Amino acid sequence: MIEKIRKVREQARQEISSAKDSSSLDELRIKYLGRKQGVITNFMKKLPGLSSEEKREAGQKLNFLKNEITQGLLERSIQLEKAKTKSQDLLDISLPGIRPSVGNTHPVNRMISDLSEALVRLGFDILEGPEVESEYYNFSALNIPLEHPSRDVFDTFYVDLPREKQFRRLLRSHTSPMQIRVMEKLKPPLAVAVPGRVYRPEKPDASHSFMFHQMEGFMVDRDIRFSHLKGVLDFLAKHIFGSKSKTRFRPHFFPFTEPSVEVDVSCIICGGKKKTCPVCKGKGWLEILGAGMIHPNVFKAVGYPKGKFTGFAFGLGIERMVMLKYGVQDIRLFFENDLRFLEQV
Ligand code: FA5
Repeated sequence: MIEKIRKVREQARQEISSAKDSSSLDELRIKYLGRKQGVITNFMKKLPGLSSEEKREAGQKLNFLKNEITQGLLERSIQLEKAKTKSQDLLDISLPGIRPSVGNTHPVNRMISDLSEALVRLGFDILEGPEVESEYYNFSALNIPLEHPSRDVFDTFYVDLPREKQFRRLLRSHTSPMQIRVMEKLKPPLAVAVPGRVYRPEKPDASHSFMFHQMEGFMVDRDIRFSHLKGVLDFLAKHIFGSKSKTRFRPHFFPFTEPSVEVDVSCIICGGKKKTCPVCKGKGWLEILGAGMIHPNVFKAVGYPKGKFTGFAFGLGIERMVMLKYGVQDIRLFFENDLRFLEQV
């Protein structure tokens, strides 16, 4: 019997160590430790027929074997569990990868780059200015006195409380203050363009936002004429909208230019043929900028000698240009950050 127990011990060890999963381990538990028909139980049943010496030795060996099998089953089950978690942690290279989402240039920034590129080709320098601007640069130096009615549409968000004899600061309502800042520092000849964000006390609708972008452009020298302004703007329109696009100049009023104009670009979406065109509303033209010849009072404010220089300036609405180029029907879409909209351009 002792020999039989030894053989069973070897067999059990071997079977337990090669068990592949928990159900084979369960089968082995029943096979060896089962109460009714288990191998150990069957041996135990035979003990009464043995001599007292053999009974004692075989009894000890069987108890030992029983503990060893119980322990072996437990260890193997821990081993199998560990192997399972390990294989789950492994990288499965057969899975399709996660494609990283690649960012896009915002249509507004793209338009700013396109315009800057064209302006640089014409000899303009690109500069940026502060968004929080002093009342002096936003209004007074641009020939817009305190009581002037055109301040109403430009009066934006004041940052400082009113103080005696001091200019308050506000979110700039246009990029024109940079005309003053640049001319204060530099002498003609100059050709400068300034892209940037501006703010207005505007009730938002499809073509008006309380925050939008402008591109200011101005050129000052001894003999700059209105024809130069027309040439530059026509070049810009063709660069952005294609060679067939046309510009239209309408008389207008700005306190800081004289004469002043508003400029429309022909609607490339419908060519003026569609009464229901969402962009030009059937007019065939869309207003994109204000412009004119720099007012003598502006030159005076920056200390240029009277009558020595002339210059033109324009302020262009970036979002309006993008709307016209890509047929965007509502300006509010630019700032909602909906990727489905932004990824189209
Ligand atoms: C100005 O802001 C002047 N500073 C432009 C200028 C510069 C004139 C230099 C003369 C010399 P205006 O308010 O018209 O002008 O705005 C210029 C352009 O900005 C408009 O033609 C339009 O394209 C755009 N714009 C104006 N208001 C809004 C708005 N609320 N939302 C979106 N775009 C606007």
